[in-house]
Order: sequence, then C-alpha cells, then structure tokens
Amino acid sequence: MGITNVKHSLPGPKSRELLEKWNKYEADVVGYQAPLVWESAKGCVVSDVDGNTFIDWTSGVLVTNVGHCHPHLLQAARNASEDLLNNYECANTYRIEAAEKLVRALPKHLDKCFFLTTGSEAIEASLRLMKRKTGNFEIISFGGGFHGRTPGAASVGGLAGPKKKYGPVIPGVIRAQFPNPYRDPLGFCDDGPDFRKYFDYLDFTVNTDSTGSLAGVVVEPYQGASGFIFPPKGWLKKLRQWARDKNLLFTLDEVQASYGRTGRMWAMEHEDLLPDIVVFGKGIGSGIPVSAVCSTSEIFSCLKKGEMSSTLGGNPVASAGVVAVLEIFEKENLVGNSAKMGEYIKNGLEAIAQKCPYLGDVRGMGLVMGMEFVKDKATKEPAPELIKPIINNCANNGLLVGSVGMYGNVIRVAPPLTINKQEADESLAIMEKVLTSLKL
Ligand SMILES: Cc1ncc(COP(=O)(O)O)c(C=O)c1O
Repeated sequence: MGITNVKHSLPGPKSRELLEKWNKYEADVVGYQAPLVWESAKGCVVSDVDGNTFIDWTSGVLVTNVGHCHPHLLQAARNASEDLLNNYECANTYRIEAAEKLVRALPKHLDKCFFLTTGSEAIEASLRLMKRKTGNFEIISFGGGFHGRTPGAASVGGLAGPKKKYGPVIPGVIRAQFPNPYRDPLGFCDDGPDFRKYFDYLDFTVNTDSTGSLAGVVVEPYQGASGFIFPPKGWLKKLRQWARDKNLLFTLDEVQASYGRTGRMWAMEHEDLLPDIVVFGKGIGSGIPVSAVCSTSEIFSCLKKGEMSSTLGGNPVASAGVVAVLEIFEKENLVGNSAKMGEYIKNGLEAIAQKCPYLGDVRGMGLVMGMEFVKDKATKEPAPELIKPIINNCANNGLLVGSVGMYGNVIRVAPPLTINKQEADESLAIMEKVLTSLKL
C-alpha cells in the first residue's frame, strides 16, 4: 500500500524453514505470534527474512519506545561496547552518567536509583525494599496485575498464568480488586473521586486478611497484561493517599507505562502520584536489556552495602543505553507525538468499532491502547477465538499486533512513539479491512 508490502501468505519460504529450525532447538513455549522471522527494523517498520515489510504496533512488548534501532542508541551501545562490556559492582563512567541522568529526569523526591536487568528483577528489588524498610512482610497487590515471572513478582501478580503449577506462592500477599470500567459488576468505578464503595471494600479486605504486618502496595498505573485496563480517573490518587494514611509504602510499577507510553514521560505524572518507589524496565533501554528501581535515599538506606546486587546491572552498554534513550527524549518530541498520534489512532479505532460487531471496547491513553473483542457488545462475552485470526490477517496485510488479556481477547496497540500520520493511516486501513471482514 505504501510502507507495507507482504508478497505471499505468511510464513514466507525462508521464514518457514527458520521457524522449523527454531522450534527444533528452542523450546516452543512463548505466546502466539504471527508466523514470520524478523530480520531488521527501523522506527515503526519491520522487515522479515522474506523481504516483507510491516508496520509494528507491538514495539516488541512495549519496549522500543524510541523506535526500532534508533541510530543514537545504536551508536551509544557501540561506543560503550568498544570500551568495556562488564565490570560487575564497580563504578564505570557510563553507569555514573546513567544514574545521574535518570535521577535528574525523575520527580525530585526520587533521588536514588539502582540498575538491574529485567522488569521482574526490579520488582523483586522493590518488594525487598518495602519489606526491609518497614520490617513487615505483607504486600497489597491487585487482581489482574502483572509484575513478572520470578517467584516474588509472580506471587504479587494477580494473574493465574505466571503462577500455574508454580506454587506455593510467597506468603503475605493480600489481593485487592482493580477497578475495571468496562467490566464493573460491583460498581467500583462509580462514585469517584471518593470511590467510597471501592475503598470500603479495600478496608474490609485488609481488615479481614492482614496479620498486622503490612509493608506496602504495588500497583500498575494501568494493567497491561490483563488487557490494558485503565482505572477510572482519580482512583490511583486516592489509592496513593489511602496507602499514605496507613503508613504503607507505595510502589508504582512503570515497567511498561513509562518513557512516554501514556502521552506523559512518566505515568505517575497524570495524577501527580509521588510514589515511594518506582520500577522501570522495557522503554528505559528501548531494546537494550536494563531496568531500574528508583526511590528515596531514606528508603534505600534500609539496605547495607552488599544487600542489593545484580551480575549485569549497571553494565556499561546498558548504562549507555539509559543515557542515550533519555537524550533522544530530550531531543525529539516523542512524548508529544505519543499524545497526539495516540488520540488520532484511538479516534480511528473508535470509528472502526462502529463497523465491527465484535470490537466491544477501545481504551487507552497515548500510544498504549487495548481493543477488547466480545461475542456480543451487550453481553460482553469474551471472544478469544477471534484473536489468532486477527493477528494472522493483520500480519498478512502488513500490520504486526500482539494479544493480551485476562480472557485472551484483547489486541494491544502500542507502536513505537515515532509513529507518523502516514504510518498511522496505513495501519488503521489494514485494521479496518481485517475487522470489517471478521466472522465468528
Ligand atoms: C507492568 C510490568 N511489570 C513487570 C514486567 C516484567 O518485566 P520483565 O519481563 O522484563 O521481567 C512486565 C512485563 O511485561 C510488565 O508489563
């Protein structure tokens, strides 16, 4: 059509051969993806080994916020790797610069960071901080939440998948409800900004479940893996206040919501949240593996020397990535583009929803949106069987999308923040073509 070009039904011949080889040697345990083998990507455009080109609405999994293979990021990684690949816990110039740059970019009260490698690892670090600082062990987390696959992260997570046959989970997790405006049988979203019904129920949950050892709360600004569920405006602010009133530490999991994804640099800005601890991953390296836990000097002071460490955390290449990504955000208006193009794409999707009987909800902010598919818009019965055909038909027409959702019925819309109008128009046209010919 212009940017995209898919010459044949996927997988193409080279992809087919390589996928067979892949499945022969690496365990085939990842989620479903369109059948192709990525060769390269620039900005929002992906090429496969058969010479097909696609527009990417995945950013990996909300990782490549600055665009795939941004030249400044590549150069920074190249430069650092020429100098030094690893030095474990020692200082290196890249690590020092990364720490300074990250802390200076954050709200003022967050004056310390610590670098790790994955989002899950950084969540584990945040749990350690909350427990060590308070001397308590109970963590309040939310049904449908996803914080990673390591034991602590999976235990505070509120999805069955990462915990399946992996129990027992760690003790001391108190599970609260997450208000979901699209599916709200208990009316938890109704009475904002006080959300009386919700917070009465939360008090009841804590009063009946806690052994009196509450340490803190961990929450996502929106629930990503559960299907991009955005709580009603004001709820997070109220939750933050509720935690403060009870002297609980408040950890915001911005592993996927940060770095411009929601149309603000940090998701916490939307409601001036001032969390005690914030966790970053994904976009912080935009493809270079790195994560961080950020907090106050006072909270970090609960750990003595040697009590937090990671083999690859703060390595020079990852640290150079942290710096380069922040420099790209300083130079390019990615946050503004996320807000502007996000609104444009959302309007386009809402128009498509009028023509597609199965697209029950389009929701999101900035360049992170969920499209929830149902059998019937009145009953809202989930329609997970539509997801694989949508992924395949989109890919065959030149658009890469992925799926999420507690019921497996949500398509994620999360292109790199560099997406322009031409790319948005072409990808929306593909989505419209696919959805208007969709049959249950
Ligand atoms: C909100 C959130 N927290 C934590 C994680 C875990 O990150 P990682 O896969 O890098 O361990 C993810 C990953 O998708 C996430 O979305």
